[in-house]
Amino acid sequence: MYICICNALTDGDIHHAATVNGARRPLEVFEACRCRVQCGTCVRKLLALVKQSVAGVEIAAEAAENMPVPAQGAA
Ligand code: FES
Repeated sequence: MYICICNALTDGDIHHAATVNGARRPLEVFEACRCRVQCGTCVRKLLALVKQSVAGVEIAAEAAENMPVPAQGAA
């Protein structure tokens, strides 16, 4: 789904910028996507998606930390 019409950025582009490039602020997302803010209409939605993506990564990391580690030699 397109989030930023001016730059044709999708929710996937924003998720990638947040999780792979570490973008946390709208300007960092635009920078990671090699474009610039134009009308600014998308900024609120873009920021909400960044927060959602970061939260998802944190939950996944926490789940991975809490996974049981198989005993060596067990199989
Ligand atoms: S919709 Fe994103 S800058 Fe215009």
